[in-house]
Amino acid sequence: PAYRDFLAALPKAELHLHIEGTLTPEMKWQLAGRNGVSLPYASIDEMRAAQNFEAPDAPGYLKKFIQHYNEGMLVLRTERDFYDITLSHLARCRDETVRYVEIMFDPQPHLMRGVPFEAFFAGMDEARRVGARDYGVESNFILCINRDLPLDTAHQALGAAAPFRDRIVGFGLDSVEDGNPPAKFTGLYDRARSEGYRLTAHCDVDQRDAVGHIHDCLNLLKVERIDHGINCIEDPALVDVLRERKICLTACPTWRPIDAMPRRVDRIRTMYDLGLKVTLNTDDPGLFLSGTLGTLLPPVAATGNFAPADMAAFMINAFEAAWLPADRRTRY
Ligand code: ADE
Ligand code: ZN
Repeated sequence: PAYRDFLAALPKAELHLHIEGTLTPEMKWQLAGRNGVSLPYASIDEMRAAQNFEAPDAPGYLKKFIQHYNEGMLVLRTERDFYDITLSHLARCRDETVRYVEIMFDPQPHLMRGVPFEAFFAGMDEARRVGARDYGVESNFILCINRDLPLDTAHQALGAAAPFRDRIVGFGLDSVEDGNPPAKFTGLYDRARSEGYRLTAHCDVDQRDAVGHIHDCLNLLKVERIDHGINCIEDPALVDVLRERKICLTACPTWRPIDAMPRRVDRIRTMYDLGLKVTLNTDDPGLFLSGTLGTLLPPVAATGNFAPADMAAFMINAFEAAWLPADRRTRY
C-alpha cells in the first residue's frame, strides 16, 4: 500500500498516447448516439464483447488492433467531440498526477471522412488550453501519419496542418508497419524536418525486421525519439548508439491478453538495466486492458521488480525527453 501511494503521488509524464485510442467503449457508444453514427452492434455489451480482441506480440497483431482502433474513430465527427475526448483525458491526468502529456493524433482518417483539420484541431487545442488552466496539466500535440494510407494523403495532412504549425510540436508515424517500412517515408520526413517539427516514429513490438526499422528511423528519417523500439535489445551495437545519443524510447507495457504483459515488462527491464532512456506509456488506454498511466504503474513495478527509485527514474526520463523548452522540462 505504501508503494501504491508513492506511485499514485509520483509526478508523471507520458510521451506516447493516441487521442483516438483514449476512447473507451462507453464514450464510443455515447458519441455514436450523439452523432447518429450506426455501429454494427445491438448494444454496448455486444460492442464490448466484440472489442475484446487479443493482440499478442506478433507481426499480425497490429493489423487486428488497428481494425478496432479505426472503428472507434468513426464516431468522432465534430469539434466538440475532439474537445470532449481530449478534455476527458486531461481530467484523468489531473486525477492521476500526470503533469505533462504529449498527445498523438491521426489527421488522415479524420480528413478522409470529411472532418476539416481546423475542426478537430480547434477542439483538441481548446481542450489543451482549458486543461492547462483548470487542471494544471500541460500537453503538446504530435501529428501522426498513418503509414498504411496512401502517401499523398500524408502530404495533404502536412499541408492542412501548416496554419497550426506553431501549436504542433512533433511529427510521428503509426498504424500498420508490415509492408510500410520507414524507408518509404524519407521524403515526407525531410519535409516535416524542414518545416520545423520534432521527429519520432513507431517501431512496433516484434514486427518483421524490427531492428532494421529502428536503424532506418535513426539514419533515414533522422528521428530523435522512437515509439516502442523494444526490439533494440537484440542488437548490442544498436543499443550502444541509442545510449550514446540518449535516444528516448517510449515503451508501452500494455497488454492484450493479460498474460502478454510479463514478456513486455521483462524486455523493458532489460532496456532499463542497459542504461537506455526508456519511458513508460499507455499508448491506447481506452482499448488496452492496462488502462491509464495511473493504473499501469503498479503492475509494471511488481512484474518488473522495479524499486520506487526506478519508477521515479522512468518519469524523470520522460520529463527530460519532453518536447518542452529546456527551462520548463525539469520544474516538476
Ligand atoms: N495506433 C495507435 N496505437 C498504435 C500503435 N501502438 N502502433 C501503431 N499504430 C497505433
Ligand atoms: Zn502508439
